[in-house]
Amino acid sequence: MFESTSDRLTGAARISKGRRTRRCFYVTIGAMMAKAQQRAELLEGRPVADAIKKEVAAEVSRLREQHGVVTRLAAVLVGDDAASAVYVRNKVRACAEVGIESDKIDLSASTTTEELLAVVRRLNADDNVDGILVQLPLPKQIDDSVIIEAIDPAKDVDAFHPTNVGYLAMGRPRFVPCTPAGIIELLDRNQIEIAGANACVVGRSQIVGRPIASLLLQRHATVTICHSKTRDLPAVTREADILIAAIGRPAFIRGNFIKPGATVIDVGVNQVTRVEGAREFFGFDADKRIEAIEKRGYTLVGDVHPAEADLIAGRRTPVPGGVGLLTVAMLMKNSLQAAKWRRGL
Ligand code: GUN
Repeated sequence: MFESTSDRLTGAARISKGRRTRRCFYVTIGAMMAKAQQRAELLEGRPVADAIKKEVAAEVSRLREQHGVVTRLAAVLVGDDAASAVYVRNKVRACAEVGIESDKIDLSASTTTEELLAVVRRLNADDNVDGILVQLPLPKQIDDSVIIEAIDPAKDVDAFHPTNVGYLAMGRPRFVPCTPAGIIELLDRNQIEIAGANACVVGRSQIVGRPIASLLLQRHATVTICHSKTRDLPAVTREADILIAAIGRPAFIRGNFIKPGATVIDVGVNQVTRVEGAREFFGFDADKRIEAIEKRGYTLVGDVHPAEADLIAGRRTPVPGGVGLLTVAMLMKNSLQAAKWRRGL
């Protein structure tokens, strides 16, 4: 069984306590410092997201000045899921940053499929609306495939409509889902070679797993998709030069899942509410995370065990501050693209 980082470090500390010699104390501190220096490079989302938003803002402004085009996104939030509310607020805020007009449409948790369909149809018909985003997940009583399939593919900035999914699967993408598109930008702008790499995607969701596998394949990676039935998962993921974790299970990807030096992209966003959990997951960074739990009741961890990944991976994305920021930036890029394509620009 793989031993966790914190076990290893507290194990070393325990030895120093037992012997109580000065030499052992220095050896322990030295070992901890050596481990501290072995940390994976962090692939921060912020600089890449800021660069993308800056490019989008320049083009949005050019469209307005040269063609009189006002780019507009409609964001629909149904119900009162707290995480979804934060995501939509961040998307609307990003619109303001890049000069895209936005309409936020809030609907009650008891909205029916028919009622939401009527909203989508109205937005489809509104020529001033370039992009339509319906935040997922939807309340249980709504059939989300009916809603997704009702969105005009030309305004489908999430790229969830079967037409856009089909184009991507064929290797002829139009709109590309925002999180997978953001991951590709992050790899490219950090000069991480995709062509020829062994890429492993853990998770096969419509939103991340399947589309990122398509995009990596299109960029000539050798792609493996893993899921709950994959046999000996760590043995498979350990082959990956680029490992994408998108399963929605806190710190599931442990050190023994990771090839030494690999690039690890963490798509998960999970709440940690227990101080013990924070100590286990965050190693040297635990203090800040424990403070966050004490202050607001939780901290966030991805699908990758950060303290263990730090000791094995070459690079990894942080949570928060990694892929999530890119999702929003790519939504801005898709909205701009919609405004241009709809007008033949
Ligand atoms: N829920 C989680 N990710 C997404 C996303 O990219 N778009 C929408 N609409 N809902 C989501």
